[in-house]
Amino acid sequence: MTTDTHAYPIARLGVIGGGQLGRMMVKAARRLGCTCTILDPAPGSPAGQVAAHQIVGGLHDPAKLRELAETCDVTTYDIEDIDTATLVELEREGRRIVPSPALLAVIQDKLLQKQALLEAGIPTADFIDVPAPSPEALAAFGFPLVQKARRGGYDGRGVAVLRGPRDLGRMLPGPSLAERFVEHAREVAVLAARGADDDIRTYPPVDMVFREGENVLDLLLAPADLSPEQETAARDLAVRTVRALGGVGIFGVEMFLDRSGRFLVNEVAPRTHNSGHWTIEACVTDQFEQHLRAVLGLPLGATDLLSPAAMLNLLGDPSGHGRPLIRGLAAALAIPGVCVHIYGKAASQPHRKMGHVTVLDSSREAARIKAEQVRKALTITGEGHP
Ligand SMILES: Nc1ncnc2c1ncn2[C@@H]1O[C@H](COP(=O)(O)OP(=O)(O)OP(=O)(O)O)[C@@H](O)[C@H]1O
Ligand SMILES: [Mg+2]
Repeated sequence: MTTDTHAYPIARLGVIGGGQLGRMMVKAARRLGCTCTILDPAPGSPAGQVAAHQIVGGLHDPAKLRELAETCDVTTYDIEDIDTATLVELEREGRRIVPSPALLAVIQDKLLQKQALLEAGIPTADFIDVPAPSPEALAAFGFPLVQKARRGGYDGRGVAVLRGPRDLGRMLPGPSLAERFVEHAREVAVLAARGADDDIRTYPPVDMVFREGENVLDLLLAPADLSPEQETAARDLAVRTVRALGGVGIFGVEMFLDRSGRFLVNEVAPRTHNSGHWTIEACVTDQFEQHLRAVLGLPLGATDLLSPAAMLNLLGDPSGHGRPLIRGLAAALAIPGVCVHIYGKAASQPHRKMGHVTVLDSSREAARIKAEQVRKALTITGEGHP
């Protein structure tokens, strides 16, 4: 697969989805000498702004997906919600789409994903299929439970934690699954990359801290506060998961550490992941370059940690929407070790991911304290009032 001579550009890379993940991927791709084309419905999308070309079109539009795949050497994606039937067809015609559309079709449906994990013997919370949600079906499974829409959920949308019968008013409509609520001590994520040559490398596990009731990643600390045995167990579980799924590329493996000390896989993303943004500054090879190396058939890079880090998402402030207004940028940048990433989204909306901040310091606690200072100093809101 790997050849030792490459023409320039080393590849014409197509990316389906023009969000922040695509934007950061394009930056890594340019460093490696690729030219990038983005497919996204919004002209001037965050990734489209930094890529050579953008095709304006929907991620479920067969003609636009075809246009992208036919004009690129390799096509990948920064989002799961894509028309996989068209991708499967294009792959059959010889187009390179990585990770494989067949795997994407499994992962994008949370029920199929859980079934695949179960069949592979990967520990995960017990679950049932709930094709037509009813209070009776959920109550029969028992509380506390977590109901998840099979498709289309992200950032906690499409997830309902139902602690008892009184919460049934928040039941999600439509095809879903119900799983046991895991009384977890912690949430940990492990990024694992699998190369075309079956080399698998994991990044140091990280602790994910969620804001009560919002389910959006709030603060991330690297490395996770685990014993050496726990760290090995988490990395091994990520390797087993990626091997079982059989994909090439980078995978974000979200896990719970339950109260008995067992790791359970929550979900897998077949792409770069919010829990890996810190690797841009804090690892030898960041998650975006690693993904590209895998999908281009190049050797994987070192995943060693260069520095402890904390990462904070910059979410749109509920006080406004519309053209983004950034307050406190100078104060945040005055703190040593603070790296600010703004995604270039045209409009801020309450709780929308508008950017992130990575803080490097000599310990994760020192980095966390600075991240909390940044949280107080820096806000992104919109010019308009809601
Ligand atoms: N079985 C469970 N037990 C306890 N908490 C859970 C369970 N499933 C999900 N959660 C909580 O809900 C959050 C969101 O769930 P999940 O990761 O499945 O959804 P998502 O919307 O796809 O997430 P994201 O896009 O933010 O990764 C989890 O990070 C966790 O905090
Ligand atoms: Mg998740």
